[in-house]
Order: sequence, then structure tokens, then C-alpha cells
Amino acid sequence: MNFKEAIEIAQNIYWVGMYLENDPFQCHPYFIDNGDASVLIDPGSMLEFDSVVKKVNSISNMSNIKYIILHHQDPDLAASVPEMEKLIDREDLRIITHSRMVPLIKHYLIQSAYYEIDHYSHRLQADGLDLQFVTTPYCHSPGAFVSYDLHTKTLFSGDIFGGMGESWDFYAGDDYFERARQFHAEYMPSRDIFNYALKKIEVLDMEIIAPQHGSIILKPQIAALIKQMKALECGLYLEDGYRNELLLSLSESQRHTLYLKEGVYWDYEKRKLFWHDTEILLKPKEKIVFTLLASKVNNTVSPIDIFNHLYKEQPHKDFSSNAITSFIKRIRQKIPQGTIKSSYGVGYMLETK
Ligand SMILES: [Fe+2]
Ligand SMILES: [Fe+2]
Repeated sequence: MNFKEAIEIAQNIYWVGMYLENDPFQCHPYFIDNGDASVLIDPGSMLEFDSVVKKVNSISNMSNIKYIILHHQDPDLAASVPEMEKLIDREDLRIITHSRMVPLIKHYLIQSAYYEIDHYSHRLQADGLDLQFVTTPYCHSPGAFVSYDLHTKTLFSGDIFGGMGESWDFYAGDDYFERARQFHAEYMPSRDIFNYALKKIEVLDMEIIAPQHGSIILKPQIAALIKQMKALECGLYLEDGYRNELLLSLSESQRHTLYLKEGVYWDYEKRKLFWHDTEILLKPKEKIVFTLLASKVNNTVSPIDIFNHLYKEQPHKDFSSNAITSFIKRIRQKIPQGTIKSSYGVGYMLETK
């Protein structure tokens, strides 16, 4: 295979990268030839700039590029964009990426407007193109995504399915997982988060996967590779020290936190109620009642116990069930419906089951 030329990997889809000598981390830009609305995917860094430009111009012309897809913010795929923009020189050039990437990507001094996939239903249907964008959060960036070309059933997978190694084959062989293992183990945050991304990917009808690193994967290899990837332990869980500390801190935070419904939780340590990051403000007496219910979660607490707890400094105060009912009513207005269960004639229960 002559890597000095662009290589057509599917109809009108070209590999326009270059072979980096003695580099285990080959980077692959791709080009979708679509007349004057062509697409350049993960263009690369300045290391490959001249080569990418030459190859695009051998198939089409830089000025025909209307879209540049950046699957995330890393320099190995995005650093050359400002120089690319100068050659493309189009007002209507759009940088396709996720809004979470823009605050980072702009530091390359990119001038063009953004097409933020999350504001366009994760789809580009224009100029005869039909691209679906599938988010793969935290694999390995918060706004990471992959692009699926519905015309050719090609998945441009960014860093996912990337491989590295001393030798490089253009097309993946049956042993490709071994080449991809180390990169994913080190770059993907954890097996469960990576599996979330893989599950979204595996439902696509893919003929070919074109990753930003490693080798191009053809249909016969895809299912087995995904299966192996799903079983891979990665990220924070990879090293015993990290894994044990993480599991410990998770169990500690679970001990301190009572998860209720719909994102509402009670922090035992702070004695505060939250909805996601926002505190749900309880008045002092409401807080006393809630603290009691939280201390006896999934158990019924009688109105008398609540009353005695509330007024333990005033032992001669007359019991009033109406007062308790009204406290419960006020608390209920601040939390998801059904969180505090009433058991008629028995009492109230904070329920998590
Ligand atoms: Fe990356
Ligand atoms: Fe990369």
C-alpha cells in the first residue's frame, strides 16, 4: 500500500493521513469527498499538515471543505485547524463538535463558527450529507463523540478503537484487540463508562470503523472486537492502588448520603437536603423533622415521636398532631412526590425502596 497517496476506504471516503516514522501512535485524518461541501475529519497536528493538504488537493481542493469534524479537543487531531482555515478560506466553514469541547478548542485560535452537535439533534443532514453523531461522554473527553455516515455505514470513531504499537497495519487483523488494549486501558476512564459508549456504538449497522489511531476495522472483525473491548478493565480501576481508594471513597460517600428520588439526596454529615448540586432549603424545625426521618429511613416514625423530638426542650408542651401534619406537608412540597409515605394512624416514613 502506498501511504504517500490518499487511500479510498469507502465510496468517496479517503484516508488522508501520513505514516509517522518510529511513532507507535499513528494519527488518521479522513476526508469525505462531497463536492464543494466536503468534510475533513480530525485533521491532525502540524506534523502532518503538509501531507494532509497535499492529499486533499490530490482528490479535491482545500477550498471545497465546508465542514471540519473535531471528535474532541486533543492536539493530535485539532492543532492544525487554524492553518487549515487559512487555506480553506470560506465564510461558511463550520467546525462540527460538541458544545463541551468549544471552550477548549477555541484556544487553538480557530476562527470559524461552530456547529455544535448537541444543538442540532446530533445530526447533519445537508448538502447531500447524512451524518449521525453519537456521544460517548468521558471516552476520553467530556464531550467526545463518534460520527456515523449513513450513506456508507462508516463509523469515524475518534479515539475509540484506536490502536498503537511498534508496527502498523493499515487494516486491522484478527489480533487487533491486542494493539488496542493498552491505549483503551490507559485512556478510557472505567469499564462501565466505556461500556456505555460501546453499547451506543454497537447498535449501529457498521461496514467499517475508521479510528483516529491504529488500523481501519472491517465488518468481519467488528463484533468480536467490541465484545473484547467490553470486557476490558480500564482507567481508574486498572491500578490496584487507585481502584481500592476509589471504592473506599465511593462507599464513604454512600455512607454519608441518603439517595431519595429524582436526584434528591440528604447529606447526613452536612445535615442538608440537595437536588443535584442545589440545596433545598429547609426551615430549622423542618430540618429537625427531616433529620429524624432520615435517621430512621424506611421505618415508620410516629407523630408523637416526631413531636417529642421537635420539642424536647419543652417537655410540657401539649401534643398536636395537626402541627406534625403541617410540618410534613411543608416538607413534602419541597421533595419528590411519594418520598415521605404516610401510614394512617401509625406515622411517617422516608422511603428509598
Ligand atoms: Fe484523544
Ligand atoms: Fe487521539
